[in-house]
Amino acid sequence: MPFPAYALITGSSSGIGLELAKQCATNKRNLILVARRNDALQHIQKELAEKFGVDVVIMPHDLSKPHAAKELHDMILSRGLVVDVLINNAGFGDYGMFVETDLEKEMNMIDLNVKALTELTKHVSKGMKARGSGYIMNVASTAAFQPGPLMAVYFATKAYVLSFSEAIGNELAPFGVSVTTLCPGPTNTAFQDRAFGNDSFFKGAMTPEAVARIGYEGMMKKKSVVIPGLKNKLLAFSVRLTPRKMVTAVARRMFER
Ligand SMILES: NC(=O)c1ccc[n+]([C@@H]2O[C@H](COP(=O)([O-])OP(=O)(O)OC[C@H]3O[C@@H](n4cnc5c(N)ncnc54)[C@H](OP(=O)(O)O)[C@@H]3O)[C@@H](O)[C@H]2O)c1
Repeated sequence: MPFPAYALITGSSSGIGLELAKQCATNKRNLILVARRNDALQHIQKELAEKFGVDVVIMPHDLSKPHAAKELHDMILSRGLVVDVLINNAGFGDYGMFVETDLEKEMNMIDLNVKALTELTKHVSKGMKARGSGYIMNVASTAAFQPGPLMAVYFATKAYVLSFSEAIGNELAPFGVSVTTLCPGPTNTAFQDRAFGNDSFFKGAMTPEAVARIGYEGMMKKKSVVIPGLKNKLLAFSVRLTPRKMVTAVARRMFER
């Protein structure tokens, strides 16, 4: 490749995204880190560049804003950076009865979890296809496998991510571009505070380090879907064998306070 290649990771200022950035840096990949918090990104930039000896570029962006993904991609092109790994990880959830939850927050969630992920994948995958190589990882959730009463919009966004990623994975495979969907179950990150407040539902959650390591390894093996943790794998499998109405009722019971 004529230019040094970079892993572009959205939502890399904390949680699973930060740990995925560390996995990439451990494997000597240069990084482009994207999130809203510039101060957090600056701190991570210094830490990872010193520790791993890779180039770390930060591009603070609110990806839920219209055209943010296009602006980000234009900025990457104007700096002559080549993206050979794209990790669409930024995302958030919300909790409550759909008739009562905040519509603006949910539209913002769709803008980030669905629209920005789709738009960034569109721009970056064109370059990957032209070069005949690349890895894309889209972070969904075990929420992708069933409807989620009390988190209806979040579960639906993750079902989109899984369906979309499997479909374009099929389209891009002949061109040397792999698409992996990472489907974590409950993971100890700031996600839980943002979705549920301090009142966490998630006992026995995995660490973001473990989720990222399993996800990174799966992406390098060009796996289509990666579900970290045996419990989460069993859950995803059992959903396939159970009537949809029952699955939905069980999902609701899990989230009822
Ligand atoms: N934790 C779980 O239990 C769990 C389970 C399954 C799936 N997931 C998925 O894993 C992904 C990562 O979440 P996490 O658990 O690591 O939570 P997290 O620690 O809250 O990380 C979310 C990341 O997204 C960034 N972000 C949020 N809004 C953004 C915006 N508008 N524009 C750009 N960046 C934005 C945040 O940075 P800034 O605040 O600096 O913008 C942060 O870096 C999400 O897609 C989530 O749905 C999480």
